[in-house]
Formats: sequence, C-alpha cells, structure tokens
Amino acid sequence: MRPSTSAALLALAISPAVAWSHSSEADFRKALKNNDRTLVAFIEPSLQSCKQLDTEWTSLTSTDAVILSIDCTKDDGLCDELDVASYPAIRLFHRDGRVQRYRGVREASELVSFLRRMARPLLSSVDERNLTSILTADPDEIIFVARYSSDDSTLREKVSKLASAYADRYTFATAASPSSSSSTITCYRGSEKLAVRTAAELAHATTALDSFLLDVCATPLVVNLTPRNEQHILDPNLGKSLVHFLYRTPDERRAYAAAVRSLAQTYRDYLVFTTIDVREHGDAMVSSLGLGEAYHDKKDIKRPLLSVQNPSNGDVFPFQGSPEDNNGPLTASVIEKFLMDIIQGVVQPWRPGAEFAQKHDEL
Ligand SMILES: *[C@@H]1O[C@H](CO)[C@@H](O)[C@H](O)[C@H]1NC(C)=O
Repeated sequence: MRPSTSAALLALAISPAVAWSHSSEADFRKALKNNDRTLVAFIEPSLQSCKQLDTEWTSLTSTDAVILSIDCTKDDGLCDELDVASYPAIRLFHRDGRVQRYRGVREASELVSFLRRMARPLLSSVDERNLTSILTADPDEIIFVARYSSDDSTLREKVSKLASAYADRYTFATAASPSSSSSTITCYRGSEKLAVRTAAELAHATTALDSFLLDVCATPLVVNLTPRNEQHILDPNLGKSLVHFLYRTPDERRAYAAAVRSLAQTYRDYLVFTTIDVREHGDAMVSSLGLGEAYHDKKDIKRPLLSVQNPSNGDVFPFQGSPEDNNGPLTASVIEKFLMDIIQGVVQPWRPGAEFAQKHDEL
C-alpha cells in the first residue's frame, strides 16, 4: 500500500469523530419548549460506544421529533441535572414534561420506529378498516390489538397497564368488537398474525399476559443480545440451541438478519438466532464460542463469526467457512447446510485448545 493510501484510510477511520455537531444547553431548553417531542443523545465523545452512535445519529431523520445531541464533557451541569450516568444516553422529551429513556438497539432504523410509536397515543383506537394501515407500516413491528366484549371487566385494565409499560417497544391498539362474546388480544408482527388469546386464557395466572407478550409475541426472529436480555436468552431451560452471529458493524448485522430471517422462522421451535456486537462483548465471548482463530485472523479477509451453541450440554460448533462460500457474506443456504452437518454429526463440537491440536497435527 502506498503511504498516501494508508494516510487516506487513516483519515477515513478517524473522521467520524468530527461528524457530531452538538447543541448547547440553551438550544436544548428552547427545543424542549417549542416542540412536541425532542430526541436527545447525551454523549461523552471519547468513548467508543459514543463514536459508534455517531454515524447512526447523523443519518437519523424523522418528522416525529426534533433530534439533537449534547456533549456532556462541555455541558456537564445539564447532564448532572438530568442524572445522565452512562453514555450514550438517549432520551425522548415530551413537551408536557414526560421523559422516556430509549433502551433499544442504537441504530437509525430502530430509533425511527421508536419515534413513530411515540408519536401515536399509548393505545390507538382502530376499526377493521384502518387496522391494516397500522399493520403494514413496518414489517418488524410487534402490534397488540385488544378487542373487548361489552361486559369486559378485567382485560381492559390489564391491557392499559401493559401499554404504559411497553409502549416504547411495541404498538398497542383497541378495536371495536361488535359481536364477539369474549374479550381477546391478538398479536401481529407487521401484517402477520402471530397468536390470539381470550381473556379467560389470560386469567389463570397474573403473569400470563406478560408472558404472552414477551415469550409468544415479542421474541424477534433474530435477537440482538444485550446485557439486559442475555440471561433470559441464554437460559438452558428454554430447550433451544443458539445460532450466534458476532458482527463488527451495524451494516453487517442488518445484512445478516435479513439473510437469515426466513431460516429463523422455519426453525423457531428449535433454534434461537442471535446477533452479538463483537466490539461490546469482546475476547471472552469470542473465545468461548470457539471463534478466536477466525476473529484474530490477520489476513485481509474478514471471516464471518458464526457459532452454534447448545446451552444444555455446553457444546459449541464454530463455523469454519466452506470452500464454496469463499468467505463471502453468509447466506441462508450456507448456514442451513452447516446446521444439517451438525445434526448429522458431520461437524464435531469444538473443544478449547482444539485449534492448537489441529495445528500440531499439520506439523
Ligand atoms: C380508525 O377509524 C376510527 C373510526 O372508524 C377512528 O375513531 C380512529 O381514530 C381511526 N384510527 C386510526 C389509527 O386512524
């Protein structure tokens, strides 16, 4: 590589740090006063997690809110006043004083969905005709539609509580139910109907509605693993094997999630597909999944970091690549073949130290 090229690449790698354009405390206060909703990122510019948000944030556009960012190393008084304790903190300020913390994936597309949700009432009211417009707005949105019978006494109250707790993540609506004799709640992913429960089915346990929401409806086809959800997802008692994909950039995660969506749907009763930010989880995760060699490969090619894990016995099966995929992006068919090879015993579980043993054999 010529020196000028590497200098250009270095500049490219560094340049996102200057893309942030932060607002002052006065701008922030003015925005809160003059707009229904203001989305604010509180950042500490030197942190890696804040640098990663930069490109997502600068590409973020929404008609549902004003968007700005605050540099907490400059406006530390403001950040203290608002109890900003970790960075980046993303919060939505409503004109009426309500503040919502954003806890989802820090990517532009997810933030746009969040803002669209927050611009709607907590519980939209729909009829069978305009229900379709809510269902088709976003193919990945989880939507709950409650239909109350005239003598409903319990479901209505439960659904309101649920909507207040989860309106930042999912959409809730009530639909008129002219004829039905029993209240029901139906969940959809986009326009696809996932499941329906009657009030009676949800009455047997106090946690039945929460469990319907979280376990039956809201489990995404491809789950992004975070410190908040990993304990639940890695729970061996779920009885499912995990297909982990460690990504280096948000683009890589998006491409992978789109590629394996239908595979995840097909095998949803047996497998959970996760994506893991390798920059956040680091070396311990990489080596526990047998991906050390692929991750630290010094060659220019970025090898895909995929590993299948059976939490009930601890077996892991790191994907080694195959000659025909030529280290290109993973496709659903390549992964499906890998899964079949595991099931049929063609691929053996990885053992710590096996990489070294293999190298030794070659000598
Ligand atoms: C759907 O239509 C009903 C009238 O039939 C109206 O009350 C309701 O606000 C509409 N909902 C949406 C989300 O447009």
